[in-house]
Amino acid sequence: MERRQRRRNEHGGQGDADRLLPYCRLRAGEIWHDPQGHHTVGCGDGGDAGFIRKLARGHPKARLAVQDPPYNLALGPRRTVAEYIRFCRRWVANTRRALDDNAALYVWVGADQKNHFQPLPRFMDMMARTDFVSRSLVTMRNQRGYGTAGNWMAVRQELLYYTLGEPEFHVQYTDIPKILRGYYKTVDGRMRENLERSKSRTIRPGNVWVDIQQVFYRMEENVPGCPAQKPLKAVERILLASSSEGDAVVDFFSHAGTTLLAGERTGRRCITCDIDPVYAEITIRRLERFRQTGKTGWQREDPFAREIAAACAQSGPRRDRVETV
Ligand SMILES: C[S@@+](CC[C@H](N)C(=O)[O-])C[C@H]1O[C@@H](n2cnc3c(N)ncnc32)[C@H](O)[C@@H]1O
Repeated sequence: MERRQRRRNEHGGQGDADRLLPYCRLRAGEIWHDPQGHHTVGCGDGGDAGFIRKLARGHPKARLAVQDPPYNLALGPRRTVAEYIRFCRRWVANTRRALDDNAALYVWVGADQKNHFQPLPRFMDMMARTDFVSRSLVTMRNQRGYGTAGNWMAVRQELLYYTLGEPEFHVQYTDIPKILRGYYKTVDGRMRENLERSKSRTIRPGNVWVDIQQVFYRMEENVPGCPAQKPLKAVERILLASSSEGDAVVDFFSHAGTTLLAGERTGRRCITCDIDPVYAEITIRRLERFRQTGKTGWQREDPFAREIAAACAQSGPRRDRVETV
């Protein structure tokens, strides 16, 4: 059977994405309010102070922000590093205004190996001029990487952790055993290697996370068409560590709606947006699908499958190729 290709850049509105716009509930500047009263989803620019004020209106200040902006690397339009940092300064200022004085901010950032690891170092410099306090540089290890020939395979994903005031922090534990070899201990008169004695319910992930599978098409949580989707387990870990039930959490770059879904599953209220109406729609649909079916994503099925099938029935089969993202 012919499969369907849907290629989008990070700002959407191009190619096949245009065909999805009629199925999107939100246009630029519009906001969806969860009928169950828990979450809010907007379509707009995280760097636009007026829009973010409107998005956050009526909500208490958030205790946590989980921000995952475009990395200025593979996807979407490339800006100069200076332009990119100016963009970051705007959404960071909006984040600060949306946060309580005791709060946490996590930012997923990219580091271009071919350009002095930008924008990571310039982003860190920019943050040093704000009132956020740096707390940790988390690395999440990906299973698959890129650049194996002539360089170390790139398998890391950086996550910066900052705080304001004195926010809560709840220690989290990992469900995998210790993985480092080379430390030995005598147990019952015999030297035992780590792996042999490594199971415990009190092992912490620390700031190198090796127990989270990056999302791909075999996983139920996979959302086709969302190449930058983060693992639910990673985002839930952040929410559980740095917020409490009932707290508001903000995310200005929702994409596949991972923070929103993590909020729904852990009892937080999520205030989120995406500049692309298609991603804003996917965010809402992902929540609705979870509530209706308990499923965390679509795995291989297109979130717009119903509409695409109806359009095909009207116009006959298309001949475009499929690309799996
Ligand atoms: C890296 S993805 C976020 C992934 C998300 N954390 C997830 O797990 O699905 C970045 C998203 O930011 C959106 N975006 C880009 N520029 C934006 C802006 N100025 N304001 C709001 N969203 C923007 C893109 O459309 C894209 O969906």
